[in-house]
Order: sequence, then structure tokens, then C-alpha cells
Amino acid sequence: MRQDFTTTASTKCPKKDPGAYWNSDLPQSPTDRIEHGYSDKYTLQVPGDWNSQDPKFLYYEGTVWYKRSFDYKKAQSDNRVFLYFGAVNYQADVYLNGKKLGAHKGGFTAFQFEIPDEVLQEKDNFLVVKVDNKRFKDEVPTVNTDWWNFGGITRDVMLVETPATFVADYSLQLEQPTDTNAPLTGWVKLDGEASGQEVSIEIPELNLTHKLTYEGAPTSFSLILPKVELWSDKNPRLYDVVIRTAADELRDKIGFRTIAVSGKKILLNGEPIFLRGICAHEEIPTEQRRAFSDADAMIQLDWAKELNCNFMRLAHYPHNEHIIRKADSLGMLIWSEIPVYWTINFENPEVLEKAKVQLDEMIARDRNRASVIIWSVGNETPVSPTRTAFMKSLVVEAKKLDASRLISAALEVHYNADKNIINDPLGAFTDVVSVNEYLGWYGGLPSSCRSAKWETIYDKPLIISETGAGSLAGFHADSLTRWSEEYQEWYYEEQVEMMKRMPDNYTGFTPWILTDFRSPKRNNPIYQDGWNRKGLISNEGAKKKAFFVLKKYYDEIAGQK
Ligand code: GCU
Repeated sequence: MRQDFTTTASTKCPKKDPGAYWNSDLPQSPTDRIEHGYSDKYTLQVPGDWNSQDPKFLYYEGTVWYKRSFDYKKAQSDNRVFLYFGAVNYQADVYLNGKKLGAHKGGFTAFQFEIPDEVLQEKDNFLVVKVDNKRFKDEVPTVNTDWWNFGGITRDVMLVETPATFVADYSLQLEQPTDTNAPLTGWVKLDGEASGQEVSIEIPELNLTHKLTYEGAPTSFSLILPKVELWSDKNPRLYDVVIRTAADELRDKIGFRTIAVSGKKILLNGEPIFLRGICAHEEIPTEQRRAFSDADAMIQLDWAKELNCNFMRLAHYPHNEHIIRKADSLGMLIWSEIPVYWTINFENPEVLEKAKVQLDEMIARDRNRASVIIWSVGNETPVSPTRTAFMKSLVVEAKKLDASRLISAALEVHYNADKNIINDPLGAFTDVVSVNEYLGWYGGLPSSCRSAKWETIYDKPLIISETGAGSLAGFHADSLTRWSEEYQEWYYEEQVEMMKRMPDNYTGFTPWILTDFRSPKRNNPIYQDGWNRKGLISNEGAKKKAFFVLKKYYDEIAGQK
């Protein structure tokens, strides 16, 4: 729900630091010096980046102080109340009624703070959020990215009221099903006085109720489901799941599937699958803004479905929960990634810790989403022993957090005239080896695809996780003219032919990228003008000629099944 963060001045803030931005902007006494003010003149929509809401914010990198007043009466006096943020880019400092609730770093993962009873008021709560989207060398991502630094409270904000003891986290993971039944393992984590509590896991459509006694720490369970309809891209079957305790009832919709690697193949529910993919940023290009809603998710997923995709690489950071849950219900397989992008400071152990926090938060939110099949720990990180050690520890951490999914990362390739060899040392640790190649855009012309030879040193599935060329929609010329739709079309024709000659590990293709997107690095005034033009769809929603080349390729592959 879109909310206005506007002013309704409050008079109930404590006297301390009257001039502090987290306190009321009304002088408590005539001598108070107040040099801030929350006024209707400056209203920002939340969720939403600030760059797209006011021309003066288009390039703004710095801090913005948000304020919203609200009333809140708890449904039950011994309940607990949390303030939840879907994401804030990049750092959030959160204050309520003059008290600091907490701070969070990381622009694309969810977080929450419990509101102590003594802070929450029934009337006139004064919520202030300081947001800072400045970039720094030792953050994740670092200062150099090929995407717009959209700042702000970019996703939903919610007040969540829970019983004193509630279901805080859970995991349900299908093991390898048989013809007659489906073994399921999982765990439940309660928050509050919980030891000895009875917990039931219910799947009504399967007439299943499994009871366990909570052991005071995340409590595991394993059970055998009767034969279930497996979730897949062709049949995105979701089951209602209820996790119930004496005081709490949590409901979710979960798809049961398995994903695994067998030799050079990726197996979905035991069957080899080819990933007909496309990359996407979290952007609605027609409105030059971050995507954040169900409607936005449907725009992106509908375009991907029109391409006949069954797979999306959500680059280069975890996207909002709406697109993941829509992918669950529509049957779109997902690659989800943390923004360990390009020249991260691999020397600094604190940077590794920040990356691990974002990895943990990404997995924590989506560990029960059937659509997510690959966790990616980064993109195009330049090879060095320090970098490979850094990235390997992220792979190990991801596996520790979630052994049920495949781990990958988008690696770089180094072209050479006679043979392009896929040998990035990080490939030794990932389940799937994925590489970005731009033969015909950053190296040679599209015709160089015809003689290109490819080899991989890894006996693992291979995904071409990026390839693409730029074109300005509506600019038409011969195929040798850079930036024309015809050049991009030719590029895709040559790339598709080259894919037919890839090593037999080739099992997925996610060209770069679904739509043109904003980038401060793309400044050719005629063809780019602040946009990366590798989209198959323009920033006005127009499908370029290359869109139809990729669609034809995917129709052929899908038809071969
Ligand atoms: C790189 C990078 C993308 C970038 C793309 C491009 O592969 O991963 O983030 O936008 O190339 O050059 O357009």
C-alpha cells in the first residue's frame, strides 16, 4: 500500500535534543533552536525511490530524513509490534518517538526492528527514518556500478503485530519424491517463551497435520507427504501450509519441487531442464523508477513470458518479494543474486561480512519460494587469489544456509582467437558455471561468433548468464551500423547460432537484458543519454527486432520438448 510520508506535527516528543531531526520539529519552548521541519511541501511516496519522484532528486546521492506520524493500538496488550522494511537503499537509521530502534545497511534486503512497549504510543507516534544512499568503496556494491543508484525507502513498510511467542522462521524442503510419496524435511523457529510448546505443521489439501514439541531452538522435523503435485515451470502448483502454535497461526503458499545438478545437467524434479532465460534489473523503465509492487512484477513477468522464458536472472541484487511470489504462482524459475559486483574490496574482511549479511537476508526471505532455484554470490568479479578466496567463502556460506538450491555466480571469460576457455577458478566451487560473454559487442563484430570455439574445464552445467548488444529503439540502418536495431538483431542471430555449437554442458541462456535501464555510465548523447540500451524492450515499452529473434529461439527450444 502506498503511503504518504507527510507532516502531522507531533507535540509528544521528549524534550532531549529538541533540535535533533528525529524529534518533533515544533519548539517545545520559545528558546528552542529548531533547524529542521517536516512539511507537506516535501512529500515522498513510500514505497518508492526518491530519484523518480522529484527532478531535483534524479542524481541525488546523500541523506533524506523521512517522517510519518501514526496512531496504533495493539489488539492485545501482551502482543509484540515490529516495524518491517522491505528494503531501504542504502543505509537506514530508524527512530520512533525520539528513540533509536536500530540501523541497517544493504540496499536490497528486508529488515525489522521490534518496538519496545515503552516507546510505542497509541496516538501520534513520530516515526523518522534517515536514509543515506551515498556509495563507498567498502560497501556492497562498491562505488562503481552500471545501474542507477536509486535511493530511498524503495519497498513496503509494515507494522507487524505478533503474539508474545510467534512463528519467526521456518523451512519446508522436499527431498527426492517417489511414485507414491514425498519425503519432506524442515524446521521451525519460534520467538518468545517457546520451549515445550506444541507446534503443528498442516497441509489441508493433503489431510496432513504433523505435530512437534518445540525444543527451545529451531526444531527440525521430517515427514512423508502422500503423493504431491510437484511445482514446476509448467505446473506451478502451490499448497496452503499452516504452521500453528497455541497463540500463533502462520499461513504460506509453498510449491514442492527438487532442484539438483547431475553431471552436466540441471534437474528439476529429476528431469533435465533447459533454462530459457532473460536478465532483468528491478526497474520500470517507462517510469524511470524502481519496481516495487505486484503490478510492477506482472509487467516484468508478462514481458518475460512473451519471450517464452521459463527463467529470469534477477540482477544484480535481490529483487522485491512481489516478483518472487508472482514467479511462484506463474511458474517462472528465478536466479537471485547479492550485489558483489565488479571491483568489490576483496582485501577487507568487513566487506566479506557485509556480503554475508546480505546473502543471509536474501536467503532468509525466500528460502521457501519454489521459483528460486539458484543463489548467485556475485557478478563479474575480477580473478585474483584474494577474490577467489572471498567468493569461495560466500559459496560455502550459501550452501550452509541453504543446501537445497544451486549456487552460482556470473563469471568473466577471456576471449582468444582460437578458443574461448571457461576456466575461472571460482567455477571449481559453484554447482553451476555461469559466464557473461559479449562476443560481437565488446569484442569483434557479431560475425566473430561464427568461428568462435568454446571449451570449459568444468564438468558442470553451463549457463551463459549474460550476452547482449545495445540499440536505440526506432533507429534503423544496415546491420553493420552500431546502435541500430538491425545490429542488435544480427548480434542475436549470430549468438543464437553460436549457442547451438556450445559444449554439451550448455543448459541455460539469460541474455542481457529485458529492458533498457538507467545507468550513469552510458552517456552517448545520441544513442544512450543515461540509458543502457541493451534492452530487448525500450524504455518506452517498444519491442525491438532482437526481441523476436530470442523469442523464436525459445519457441524452438520449448517446441522440442
Ligand atoms: C556486464 C555487467 C552488467 C552491465 C553489462 C553491460 O556484464 O554484468 O551489469 O550492465 O555488462 O555492459 O551492459
